[in-house]
Amino acid sequence: MRTAGHHAVDLVVQRLCTAADGPPHTVAAPAELQTLLGEPLPEEGGDLGGLLDHLAHDVLPLGIRFDHPRCFGFVPTTGNYPAVLADLLSTAHLSVPGAWLVGSGPSSIELTTLKWLKELLGLPGHWGGLFVSGGSLANLTALAAARDHQLGGDLAGARLYCSTQAHPSVARAAHLLGLGRDQLVALEPDPEQRLDPRSLAAQVDADLAAGLRPFAVVATVGTTSTGAVDPVTDLARHCRRYGLWLHLDGAHGAAFALSARGHDMREALGQADSLTFDPHKWLFQPYETGCVLVRDPELLKATFRMARHHLDTGYLHPAEARHGEVNFDDLGPQQSRGLRALKVWLSLKTFGAAAFRRAVEHGLHLSDHAAARIAAHPGLELTSTPSLAILTFRCRPTDGSADPATVDRLQQSVSDAVRATGQALVLTTRVRNRTVLRMCTINPATTPADIDATLELVLQTALAR
Ligand SMILES: Cc1ncc(COP(=O)(O)O)c(C=O)c1O
Repeated sequence: MRTAGHHAVDLVVQRLCTAADGPPHTVAAPAELQTLLGEPLPEEGGDLGGLLDHLAHDVLPLGIRFDHPRCFGFVPTTGNYPAVLADLLSTAHLSVPGAWLVGSGPSSIELTTLKWLKELLGLPGHWGGLFVSGGSLANLTALAAARDHQLGGDLAGARLYCSTQAHPSVARAAHLLGLGRDQLVALEPDPEQRLDPRSLAAQVDADLAAGLRPFAVVATVGTTSTGAVDPVTDLARHCRRYGLWLHLDGAHGAAFALSARGHDMREALGQADSLTFDPHKWLFQPYETGCVLVRDPELLKATFRMARHHLDTGYLHPAEARHGEVNFDDLGPQQSRGLRALKVWLSLKTFGAAAFRRAVEHGLHLSDHAAARIAAHPGLELTSTPSLAILTFRCRPTDGSADPATVDRLQQSVSDAVRATGQALVLTTRVRNRTVLRMCTINPATTPADIDATLELVLQTALAR
């Protein structure tokens, strides 16, 4: 066990210390992987150390290298070494912060970590919640509580609102919660890609007049595509007026609250009824580290507590929470659940919150730097207001072509060609129906020189088209 364990740590350290050495993206064809991995069930065992080598060298590196300093695709987390060790320890201890009886120590770690997250985000102490696998499950969990609290089990005529820029997990949650397609109203955003409070109010008025039952709004604080922040204060005012639940999807953007310029974000978060926050994005945690927080944690219990579901579960009686105990399995959809919080706990204890604040600031400085470079270069053009360390931009065609389809194709081919060089990963998105390049600059190991080199590569690639 020790020999294999030491070897595993060597492989981990090797991986973490060579983030910049290879390409930020490696892909293999399905047929190649079938040859590599499509083996029969191993009836007899093999050598653990050799298997670890096989995984670390041949299999696990195939994919996006999110911690590469020139990986700007999606929302690139970096992970961190204490979090790796946290998973190792909690896995060995079979830690389950489910019922207090089952895991009082692990549950206490989760309680403390949630308290720290609330402090980092500027949320009042009475808020509560739990760790989940990620933003998708956080959205689902919060919206399940909203549905039950607001609609009391009758979904007829119910209406949920968001903008077209909301994450697709919102639509998937609506589907899983039993809402039909027409019951999620996705409104066109304003020119800055934000949910427009006036459009929302007009739609709610029209729906009420039609006898429908508006019950909740999902505002995104940091859309995945452009980092746009929906105007929470105005939306919250409308929600209070109409008696709607306000859920904030801050999977990426809530972490902005850690920064010196995040005052408005801290103010905004506290106005919601519930919040999605993904430490596996801008809090530098490995997957799966998501979190859902709600203003009134009793409402999570009302939806999820085991006793609500009338099945014969006498074996659970010994695990009922007594005074002062918290059963996290009463707050969300999972009973047996891993100790996701330990990753955040151990990394906060190891590095200190100040290091996380500095790391968030760094991402913002990189984004400022990139935006200034793009704005100043005649060959490039910003296509949305840089927000929360997310930039979108495009290359201007060298031949002056203005044909939208040609310009769109150029961005896609630049992105593909940059990826093919193995030097950087700059993917595309769609903004106002046009293809544009997109960078998310939150890696603390990325330097301004990495940004400059990547933009230069983009420009040179566009020139060669
Ligand atoms: C705004 C937003 N919400 C939700 C999600 C889904 O999060 P996850 O992939 O952790 O389920 C994402 C993922 O990028 C996101 O950006």
